[in-house]
Amino acid sequence: MTPEEAVMTQESDASVPEVSEPGASRSGEAVGALASPRPRIDVSGAATPEGRADTQTVFHCDDIHVYYGDFLALRNVSLDIAAHEVTAFIGPSGCGKTTFLRCFNRMNELIEGARVEGSINYHGVELYQDEVDPVEVRRRVGMVFQKPNPFPKSIYDNIAYGPRLAGAKRSELDDIVERSLTRAALWDEVRDRLKTSAYGLSGGQQQRLCIARAIAVQPDVVLMDEPCSALDPIATGRIEELIAELKTEYTIIIVTHNMQQAARISDMTAFFSVQANEMGQRTGELVEYAPTSLIFTNPDDPRTEAYITGRVG
Ligand SMILES: Nc1ncnc2c1ncn2[C@@H]1O[C@H](COP(=O)(O)OP(=O)(O)OP(=O)(O)O)[C@@H](O)[C@H]1O
Ligand SMILES: [Mg+2]
Repeated sequence: MTPEEAVMTQESDASVPEVSEPGASRSGEAVGALASPRPRIDVSGAATPEGRADTQTVFHCDDIHVYYGDFLALRNVSLDIAAHEVTAFIGPSGCGKTTFLRCFNRMNELIEGARVEGSINYHGVELYQDEVDPVEVRRRVGMVFQKPNPFPKSIYDNIAYGPRLAGAKRSELDDIVERSLTRAALWDEVRDRLKTSAYGLSGGQQQRLCIARAIAVQPDVVLMDEPCSALDPIATGRIEELIAELKTEYTIIIVTHNMQQAARISDMTAFFSVQANEMGQRTGELVEYAPTSLIFTNPDDPRTEAYITGRVG
């Protein structure tokens, strides 16, 4: 099973140790609802901004290094991700964008030999501590992949899958399916064929289905790894409109190779680059992180400018 498949079909990991005192971890830090065993997820209420933590910072990353075995793929990344913004990660192939994105929902753990060092604080909770249940993290921090990856199931069952796992009642499912497909701007196109295979949808529709599936479990954050790279310009435009709408409810981090797309849809942009050491090992690093308008009009670093103007990369 690939990490992508594993994350889509995950169930709570019973081997994660229990927290003895509710809401407290060994380090004395509040773990709250992220603690394992995971609490029942209430799928009846809408994920409103009011319902979330007060802080404007969703993730605070400090000095992140990611290794695959002995290979240092990404070094020394520190940045904050703000709530209800679209943050874009850009940079040349191999600079560690996907690697970094996978840090936000502990997905690197599903990759043999991958190791994350440093700290990621999520709404005041240290994400990489034993007491945090990675399955609960992945429910709150959903992911949409480059290639649309619907399950070999009906449209309805694709959306209902996550809520069912989370304990949603049968009577709630119709509503969840309709609401999620509506939010993903797909409802009108599929309402008459909900019981047919998701494979019968076009690529652009499949990607909106995957977005609907990601939001059906009421996440807080949606990670998107080049979600439009397999789509035509019309389908891409629809996804971009959708992202602009979704950010009122969710925090979105998107990897894109499309500079115009980053400029159009993101509030903040992080530019990563890759540096080879004397052994020829190519390690990614964060070059510049700033409001998107600044990155594209007046970047600080000459490497950023060279990349966005298409001179390298
Ligand atoms: N599962 C893995 N095992 C070993 N090395 C990996 C793995 N995934 C990525 N890498 C390596 O880590 C580095 C960063 O890869 P990553 O996929 O994060 O780059 P990227 O910026 O997303 O590139 P692209 O734009 O091509 O998608 C690369 O050198 C890559 O070969
Ligand atoms: Mg990538």
